[in-house]
Amino acid sequence: MNEWPLFLVGLGVVGSATARLLTERSDFLASRAGVRFVVQGAAVADVHKMRPGFTPSFPLTNDPWQGIEDPAVRVVVELMGGTTRALDVVTAALRAGKHVVTANKALLAEHGEFLFRLAQEQGCLLAFEAAVAGSIPVIQAVRDGLAANTIDALVGIINGTSNFVLSRMRTGQLSFQEALQEARRLGYAEQNAALDVDGLDAAHKLALLARVAMGVPLRANAVHTETISQVTQEDMAFAEALGYCIRQLAIARKTACGIELRVHPALVRRQHLLAHVDGVMNAVLVHGDIAGATLYYGAGAGGNATASAVLADLIALGRQTAGWAALSLPKPTEERPILPMEQIQSAYYLRMRVADSPGVMASLSAIMAEHAINVEAIIQKEPSCDDGHVPLVFLTAVVPEASLQAALRRMQALEAVLGAIQCIRLAPVETL
Ligand SMILES: NC(=O)c1ccc[n+]([C@@H]2O[C@H](COP(=O)([O-])OP(=O)(O)OC[C@H]3O[C@@H](n4cnc5c(N)ncnc54)[C@H](OP(=O)(O)O)[C@@H]3O)[C@@H](O)[C@H]2O)c1
Repeated sequence: MNEWPLFLVGLGVVGSATARLLTERSDFLASRAGVRFVVQGAAVADVHKMRPGFTPSFPLTNDPWQGIEDPAVRVVVELMGGTTRALDVVTAALRAGKHVVTANKALLAEHGEFLFRLAQEQGCLLAFEAAVAGSIPVIQAVRDGLAANTIDALVGIINGTSNFVLSRMRTGQLSFQEALQEARRLGYAEQNAALDVDGLDAAHKLALLARVAMGVPLRANAVHTETISQVTQEDMAFAEALGYCIRQLAIARKTACGIELRVHPALVRRQHLLAHVDGVMNAVLVHGDIAGATLYYGAGAGGNATASAVLADLIALGRQTAGWAALSLPKPTEERPILPMEQIQSAYYLRMRVADSPGVMASLSAIMAEHAINVEAIIQKEPSCDDGHVPLVFLTAVVPEASLQAALRRMQALEAVLGAIQCIRLAPVETL
């Protein structure tokens, strides 16, 4: 298998997660990409800085040009941030004929058209899945998955800090400042959070989404922004009374007259899926003319979440140059067996009608205890008809299906139980 020497510029939150994963899952990534990525080195600001939890197994330098000028290096991964030095780094890497993967939305929003043109002239790829919405593969979804559609509109919650602040203002009845302080305490907001709360970070990402989805040229300051810092507790309460919540939304929409590009606080009806995107989570709703509305949801930031998108770009690059057909699947690698139902684990809802007489609950509880089934909740209603039976509902903890079925057979056989016991599994989504 071909080796692909790679050079990282930046080993901070995203860079160190990317480097660690490139090392730890080298074989796995090679099997997915068709080429093996080998980190040749990384540029950082301070080579002597302590990097707790991460010991690089490759040389560090504070001179990115060492990697850019190395003829062996095929990909430069720019994870330093900023728009001045990063522009020099990405420009030089492309001019040197390297593919570039970046998470830098500010750089692309400002200099994207120049850089994409340069990449094309150089026959290189400039990939940026990680620049928008962290872990969510929304660039790929819009560019490839919805390729047959004209995208009319997209609406995103694409700044986790602002979404956290507005979520906490709602759930904790906090002021904007109190919620922002909490975000800082939890590490969700920088000391200077203006880029987030004033909408500029979301504007950068929106500009990139509108470029990919609608072909809107990247232009500095094209996106209208308004801060969320003016939203008050009073607005929260009125919105709530009207059946809405307030979110920072990034909106791109085609109209007969032009394109709307805007980031601002907005009321969202509480029943809408976007109203359930809480805390630091991100989501993007995309409306295509054939597909209709599709929604993408996930972690918008964080080392591993963003590294996942950086690695996806690297894999796509590898696949393309390894000549893998776009729709080809890697060989099946999973060797574990498909489990028979009695070996699955689940929580269960059990509904039955039982005789309204002493000792029935004790018998049911004893059966469940003997099968090590913990009960999380019980609902017992008054008799609804005069046959002397009452409806009874149990919610169990997660238990093996075999134990549940064994207990169910014994409960069903009790004389006090009338008719069939209704058994429905709980969806295993709480722990995902
Ligand atoms: N953090 C996230 O969750 C996230 C999510 C999506 C996108 N992004 C984007 O990813 C990029 C990186 O973000 P981050 O949070 O990982 O940043 P970070 O933690 O601040 O790391 C920046 C890295 O760049 C290095 N660096 C700074 N100036 C340099 C220079 N002149 N030469 C060489 N190296 C230099 C720093 O070196 P030292 O280590 O020596 O200081 C550090 O390793 C940014 O564009 C950001 O917008 C981040």
